[in-house]
Amino acid sequence: MLWTSTVTSIVVLAASASAQLDNAYSPPSYPSPWMRGGNQWQDAYAKAQTFVSQLTLLEKINLTTGVGWEGEACVGNTGSIPRLNFRGFCLQDSPLGIRFADLATAWPSGMNVAATWQTRLFKSRGNGMGAEHRGKGVDVQLGPVAGPLGRVPAGGRNWEGFSPDPVLTGVAIAETIKGIQDEGVIANAKHFIMNEQEHERDKNGNLDAYSANVDDKTMHETYLWPFADAVRAGVASIMCSYNQINNSYGSQNSYALNYLLKNELDFQGFVLSDWWAQHTGVASALAGLDMTMAGDQGLASANTYWGGNLTAAVLNGTVPQWRLDDMVVRIMSAYYKVGRDTARVPVNFNSWSSETYGYIHPQSNEGYQQINFHVDVQDGHSRLAREIAGASTVMLKNVNNALPLKKPRSLAIIGEDAHDNPAGPNSCGDRGCNVGTLAMGWGSGTAQFPYLIAPVTALRAQAQKDRSLFVNVSNNYDFDAITKAASNAFVAIVFANADSGEGYINVGGNQGDRNNLTLWGGGDELIKRVASVNPNTIVVLHTVGAVIVEDMKNNPNITAILWAGLPGQESGNAITDILYGVRNPSAKSVFTWGKNREDWGVDVQYTFPTQPGQLNFNEGNFIDYRYFDANNIEPSYEFGFGLSYTNFSYSNLQIVKNDPGPYQPTVGMTKAAPTFGTIDYNEANAEFPTGFRAIFRYIYPYLSEPVPRNQTNNWPAMAFDSTPQPRIGSGGSAGGNRQLWDTMYTVSATVTNTGTVKGIEIPQLYIHLGGPSDPKIVLRGFDDLILDPNESQTFTYKITRRDISNWDTSSQNWVISSYPKTVYVGASSRNLPLKGILQ
Ligand SMILES: *[C@@H]1O[C@H](CO)[C@@H](O)[C@H](O)[C@H]1NC(C)=O
Ligand SMILES: *[C@@H]1O[C@H](CO)[C@@H](O)[C@H](O)[C@H]1NC(C)=O
Ligand SMILES: *[C@@H]1O[C@H](CO)[C@@H](O)[C@H](O)[C@H]1NC(C)=O
Ligand SMILES: *[C@@H]1O[C@H](CO)[C@@H](O)[C@H](O)[C@H]1NC(C)=O
Ligand SMILES: *[C@@H]1O[C@H](CO)[C@@H](O)[C@H](O)[C@H]1NC(C)=O
Ligand SMILES: *[C@@H]1O[C@H](CO)[C@@H](O)[C@H](O)[C@H]1NC(C)=O
Ligand SMILES: *[C@@H]1O[C@H](CO)[C@@H](O)[C@H](O)[C@H]1NC(C)=O
Ligand SMILES: *[C@@H]1O[C@H](CO)[C@@H](O)[C@H](O)[C@H]1NC(C)=O
Ligand SMILES: *[C@@H]1O[C@H](CO)[C@@H](O)[C@H](O)[C@H]1NC(C)=O
Ligand SMILES: *[C@@H]1O[C@H](CO)[C@@H](O)[C@H](O)[C@H]1NC(C)=O
Repeated sequence: MLWTSTVTSIVVLAASASAQLDNAYSPPSYPSPWMRGGNQWQDAYAKAQTFVSQLTLLEKINLTTGVGWEGEACVGNTGSIPRLNFRGFCLQDSPLGIRFADLATAWPSGMNVAATWQTRLFKSRGNGMGAEHRGKGVDVQLGPVAGPLGRVPAGGRNWEGFSPDPVLTGVAIAETIKGIQDEGVIANAKHFIMNEQEHERDKNGNLDAYSANVDDKTMHETYLWPFADAVRAGVASIMCSYNQINNSYGSQNSYALNYLLKNELDFQGFVLSDWWAQHTGVASALAGLDMTMAGDQGLASANTYWGGNLTAAVLNGTVPQWRLDDMVVRIMSAYYKVGRDTARVPVNFNSWSSETYGYIHPQSNEGYQQINFHVDVQDGHSRLAREIAGASTVMLKNVNNALPLKKPRSLAIIGEDAHDNPAGPNSCGDRGCNVGTLAMGWGSGTAQFPYLIAPVTALRAQAQKDRSLFVNVSNNYDFDAITKAASNAFVAIVFANADSGEGYINVGGNQGDRNNLTLWGGGDELIKRVASVNPNTIVVLHTVGAVIVEDMKNNPNITAILWAGLPGQESGNAITDILYGVRNPSAKSVFTWGKNREDWGVDVQYTFPTQPGQLNFNEGNFIDYRYFDANNIEPSYEFGFGLSYTNFSYSNLQIVKNDPGPYQPTVGMTKAAPTFGTIDYNEANAEFPTGFRAIFRYIYPYLSEPVPRNQTNNWPAMAFDSTPQPRIGSGGSAGGNRQLWDTMYTVSATVTNTGTVKGIEIPQLYIHLGGPSDPKIVLRGFDDLILDPNESQTFTYKITRRDISNWDTSSQNWVISSYPKTVYVGASSRNLPLKGILQ
């Protein structure tokens, strides 16, 4: 059955939704849930209690507060505990490698690894990144990303995450976290939550960040979903986002942090702020923030909301001891949970200088010494990076047996995107330019390339092996050379790209988010021109997400289209593997390719009529394919689509019902809030020690002025309640009520390789939940099967209670509706030959 044959009409937008969401607010939720331990945290919690109990007030404060921008070697650093010879925490970007470090791997992006749909690769990339961070002395790797999820295709940072589908992102983030943390490094799931575009994402002077407003059902069924998987996977830290959520900042939204994250999802690790995303001291502490980054109020502002101010707030009783102790015990539990007590090595690199010698406190130019030890942590990871880059290349089109190439007589490689940046792959800080082949977006989510294999380099080497005539043109606008090269070649391979990144850098007028969904550098015109003179034109796209490809799809002279995303350092080798059939393409698109920008229904909001901007997620759950399906919009290529050099068939759907018994909401009460150790309330003992030599602009825990004691205190009384609290029905264990993961049905199907070469197929399982406001289908499971020609294997997926539930706003729990539910299995979201009823 082809998906398009069924037409169901679904009303997507409630007319009143917009009005309801404008100025939406978050209900207060206090007290901040204190850590309870829980299965996977028990040992770490016990060790952390012992450690924290011996700390003084100032030592505790030190672990909660960053020392300020460029105060130490890492992008984030907390204070230390010299008395116990315990160095501060080192927090380092990024989700695809180690920002600012040498001799480390520049991995394929999160979006790319998602496109492999291979859980083994999600995990092993996590292992690789974790091991490298460990080797450099990093305590917290600032990744992976599930926010942005990818609500709008032009969103600047989508590529740092995985996919606009919450289930694919959920699996990818969970496996990445396990990979990183198994290597002894704390992973950081970010950005919590709904940081879906760059424009006006953060507070800028008096200008407030936009408020992302979303209803409770969508929050649970779409945006919170992958974070639940992250928590279930044991993620030890989470970063709250710059934006406001329902008109309350991510770092102080008590409903988002206290209720959703720490109570409902039972998150036991610590919450740290995005850099300078904290805007209050006491309010953020009571709302569930545990660590502030970079520690200073603004970039190198030399003052802080916490540090000495948090010391004062504890001394005057405004922040209770149990809340401070909870912050610190969460931080130290994360440390023990991943084994930092045995995995730690000294920090041996410096983010702020690549020189061997320099200042250990760069902000103040103090402490001249060796700062870079050039430790090589790559450990043969280039092989895995190449495998992932190849396995993430989606073949969108392949006609006339254009691919794989078989020793072509001659080939022309055309386009700047196939070539090196003449100034080197790292010539622009944080990759903030688009020159040469694109292998990474821009912003803090980047790494230094140890090297970057441009496609032209690897393809020329292959051509030499095959004795193919080889010609290349890098200038997209040298039309004479392009026409000459392309018209005489047996095959013309043209490369083009589209870039995006984080909002603090503007590239070619794009302030993080893309301005359009077309190719950069005249790419569309270039492709058309090459195809006009060569009937065997192959297009390779390096893009941060969807671009408009309908013309290329329909152009008969374009015989193949490959999407290679942001493949990282092994770009050229990986695309050569695919083009020549050394690797059979197996990737599937992790987003929908619309024909027009309007097809997605939602877009970046570049300007806001009123302040703070109200960014209303009126479309609810209907993003990406869910919107296309609901509105019967035909895409160029659908979510989950990707071709292979072989063919697969699907047969024999089997559904076995399982009875795990009825769902029991979690009941009972927590314990009372514990405290660890005693606090010395003598103000004099919290001042700078006599003779203490403070580093310029550095953030300390000491008081710099008398503790204020008679300020008007209008914090909600319940914020100070340390008595046992009711547990919530949908919560109770990591990621939510443990029964959400009960198996309700086991579905299996046979997948057969009907072609002539070995290949990997990604069978996908979708469900229609049946209700009038449910998407036509939602992804629930997938696998990767390696199949020889004529070989069959069984795809099996266990459908959980969560998979077939909706979030019920009135009972505040997951409920299986009475609507009939249908399961589909097939090769993409619109090619689902198998169908069955879940009864
Ligand atoms: C935001 O407001 C909407 C509309 O009132 C509500 O349904 C939702 O639960 C709120 N979410 C948060 C995180 O406050
Ligand atoms: C807090 O951390 C700073 C920076 O590491 C250190 O200089 C200071 O001695 C620490 N204070 C205490 C009380 O441990
Ligand atoms: C405490 O916070 C106030 C208000 O933001 C600020 O003016 C002051 O400098 C802060 N104190 C410290 C020690 O950073
Ligand atoms: C062909 O590629 C090489 C790099 O491999 C580059 O130096 C040269 O400029 C390219 N030729 C043209 C005509 O662009
Ligand atoms: C889209 O944006 C890119 C990058 O800024 C630019 O090169 C290109 O010309 C734009 N496309 C159109 C059609 O304006
Ligand atoms: C396809 O290529 C041929 C030259 O081989 C050219 O005559 C024709 O116009 C091209 N078609 C398109 C759509 O560019
Ligand atoms: C795959 O199947 C299609 C249509 O059935 C056919 O045209 C194509 O040749 C097959 N490809 C391979 C590699 O077997
Ligand atoms: C206690 O100190 C904090 C930090 O300076 C301040 O925000 C708060 O208002 C003070 N509380 C009282 C009751 O004065
Ligand atoms: C707070 O106390 C100080 C001195 O103890 C006094 O000067 C000031 O007026 C008081 N402020 C308020 C708001 O009561
Ligand atoms: C696959 O099966 C067909 C039909 O039975 C047979 O002709 C072909 O040789 C088989 N191919 C392989 C690689 O075994």
